Amino acid sequence: MVERVVSEPAQPAATHSARAGLAGRSAPRRLSEITGDVDERMILTIGEFARVLGGGIVPGSIILIGGDPGIGKSTLLLQVALEMARQVSVLYVSGEESERQVKMRALRLLRSNDGAQAVQPENDLNIPENLFLVTETNLDIILQHIAELHPQILILDSVQTTYIPELDSSAGSVTQVRETASRLRELAKSSGLAVFLIGHVTKEGAIAGPRILEHIVDTVLYLEGDRFQSYRLLRSVKNRFGATSEVGVFEMRERGMIEIANPSEAFLAERMINAPGSAIAVTMEGTRPLLVEIQGLTSPTAFGNPRRTPNGVDFNRLLLTAAVLTRRVGLRLGEQDIFVNVVGGLQIDEPAADLAMAVAIASSMRNLPVRAETVLIGEVGLSGELRMVGQMTARLHEAAKLGFKTAVVPRRIRRVEPWPDEIKVIEVRSLHQALDHALMAQESPPTP
Ligand SMILES: Nc1ncnc2c1ncn2[C@@H]1O[C@H](COP(=O)(O)OP(=O)(O)OP(=O)(O)O)[C@@H](O)[C@H]1O
Ligand SMILES: [Mg+2]
Repeated sequence: MVERVVSEPAQPAATHSARAGLAGRSAPRRLSEITGDVDERMILTIGEFARVLGGGIVPGSIILIGGDPGIGKSTLLLQVALEMARQVSVLYVSGEESERQVKMRALRLLRSNDGAQAVQPENDLNIPENLFLVTETNLDIILQHIAELHPQILILDSVQTTYIPELDSSAGSVTQVRETASRLRELAKSSGLAVFLIGHVTKEGAIAGPRILEHIVDTVLYLEGDRFQSYRLLRSVKNRFGATSEVGVFEMRERGMIEIANPSEAFLAERMINAPGSAIAVTMEGTRPLLVEIQGLTSPTAFGNPRRTPNGVDFNRLLLTAAVLTRRVGLRLGEQDIFVNVVGGLQIDEPAADLAMAVAIASSMRNLPVRAETVLIGEVGLSGELRMVGQMTARLHEAAKLGFKTAVVPRRIRRVEPWPDEIKVIEVRSLHQALDHALMAQESPPTP
């Protein structure tokens, strides 16, 4: 993601320091004397969301959720509000939508079975009493509402539409966004209010938002996904209360964001077995291994330069993989367009998926399918060698759990822990050898 921070004239620095800390003088205390249950969290029943937060919602924490327009931020947070309002009181501040719009969305989220059943009357839908909504963009007024209502959770949709009247700059500017977040942080720390901030990433990549707020907030989550696909990934890029790069997987439906508790199964559901150009990688998203299908397609270049078109993998890794296949394996990719696609709209950044990408491309080029029930794990080096990747045991266990029988992996140098027994592990040194093990022999029956 390319991010550019819009510069603007400096604001008088007085506002912040004048307020911060001076209200009541701070005093050092012995750590041992500070009381309170350290890991006291509000339970969030949306498991995939809770997982990304590191268990539940920490009182007094401030959480930023960024994402592209229309990706589903408001939907997901309204679901959180509806769930949490069954335990605690929640204030949802909308600066972007009218009360009616939010109400309509809430009703849609609460209706069961994707609208298959007869439409339920509104009062049967069981909207929690403790969920309050206000459409407001002035932070001073929002703070008054908080003082009167004493909610335990605040959802601010969005941080870019909120403004502080005494600052000169317009809503959404760096100063406004940063100051809004700092004031809410102070409030959160002093009162125990948990704050969710929704932030946009604008089309141009200029965000007076998520990036400049990363150091102010406790947790930064990004909601990602391909607009044309229904899967959405909630990823933590910073978390003071849990592991980072943890991922929650959802599917966007009429009824809202539905949790996908077993994403590997979902990502592999539409796979065509025995089709050339399809390989299965095992990637780690945080602590969770995910099996994904990587598709490769090669096709003779019609005119001009051959094209390399990645979808879901890094462009440079595709170039590197294609170069290694050409130089070290002898595939003539120089006059081929290459397309690579990660099924399900996932973006894979780790090199552990190199091998699957290389095999998918080679499989398409040679028109030979990958052996049935085989996963491919490993980083490809410039000499065509395979390099070991982290958390191999977890990856192999996940593959075995999903019924895969064979894994082609880099040769181990040190044997730290035993491989799982449930899957046959073939260790190879090079991409060349990996292809021999991964692709079906020439004489195998042609594919449909
Ligand atoms: N009736 C509906 N049925 C199914 N999906 C819907 C319906 N109405 C809206 N959506 C989906 O919800 C998405 C918008 O979600 P949402 O408003 O939560 O996104 P957002 O990230 O908050 O967007 P913005 O940046 O505009 O605030 C739309 O892209 C659309 O796919
Ligand atoms: Mg929204």
